Amino acid sequence: MSASPLAPTQASLTEPISADMDAVNAVIRQQLYSDVPLVNQIADYIISAGGKRIRPVLVLLMANAYAYRGTHHHQLAAVVEFIHTATLLHDDVVDESALRRGRETANTMFGNAAPVLVGDFVYSRAFQMMVGVGSMRVMQILAEATNVIAEGEVMQLLNMRDPDVTHARYLQVIRSKTAKLFEAAAQLGALLAGASEVQIEAAAEYGRSLGTAFQLVDDALDYSGVAADIGKNVGDDLREGKPTLPLIYLMEHGTPEQRQLVRSCIQHGDTSHFDEILQAIISSGALEYTLQEAHNAALRARQSLHVLPESPFKNALHDLSVFAVDRNY
Ligand code: IPE
Ligand code: IPE
Ligand code: MG
Ligand code: MG
Repeated sequence: MSASPLAPTQASLTEPISADMDAVNAVIRQQLYSDVPLVNQIADYIISAGGKRIRPVLVLLMANAYAYRGTHHHQLAAVVEFIHTATLLHDDVVDESALRRGRETANTMFGNAAPVLVGDFVYSRAFQMMVGVGSMRVMQILAEATNVIAEGEVMQLLNMRDPDVTHARYLQVIRSKTAKLFEAAAQLGALLAGASEVQIEAAAEYGRSLGTAFQLVDDALDYSGVAADIGKNVGDDLREGKPTLPLIYLMEHGTPEQRQLVRSCIQHGDTSHFDEILQAIISSGALEYTLQEAHNAALRARQSLHVLPESPFKNALHDLSVFAVDRNY
């Protein structure tokens, strides 16, 4: 395991797979092409803004950790990034978000209809690409993941403006909408490389736990983050009346006044008390609790790495679980 005293950075995580990442970026560029100009325009708009590319990194690190020799991991890394990109195009419409990856969202630039339709294009391009890998098991994993993500987004829609959402219901949403794709990404890397069933399941568990940690931190950063760092507007979740863990904890552990304020703001998607709620999230320990839960999930991810042979890739997977929690973007 990495004994580096320095916090892992994105550059240090991708260092052992830099050639693979270049190959994935080439696949992404090449596969986004359409004869319909608006498709290229919008797809290019969101893809060229970058993003952390964590899901492709996961595919590549896991495949390399099991000594994969081939090029299908480049295809599948691009596939998971496409699925992710499609969900972002749709998610920003549903969430009425205005900022993504430090730019105006596609829905702000082009209206709602075009990003929904181009999101469908990007989704289905991902499915065309995965067919090229020629493995029924690969298609099964990705088809299921995509379906569960959609379910997660619908469950979240049902939870909106509902202050009675429990910690358990919240967890079910984040496992579906976010952790499922992390799970698929890690699983695919191990599967491609011919890992054993036990190792594939350990990879799946790593991805699930990492993805859970990742979304918990995303939900903390929606309050405590800085827009210039996260590339998204702070306070989007409150504006939407999304009962995420910081608010769920605050309603359980805050003063009766705080509880009443949060309930009402969730019910009305009211952001006029954002600063007050942020202060309460901090003083009640809700932020700390959310980050502790993320830390626990990251720890579970790390524990499932024990089946991997020692390698720089395993060390990077360890560091990725640290980055998922320590990040400020
Ligand atoms: C954003 O994912 C959506 C969540 C699951 C929180 P990322 O934070 O990975 O987004 P990009 O790709 O880096 O922009
Ligand atoms: C993102 O959830 C999950 C998916 C895109 C499926 P969020 O709504 O929290 O993501 P951000 O904060 O908009 O990136
Ligand atoms: Mg969103
Ligand atoms: Mg968010």
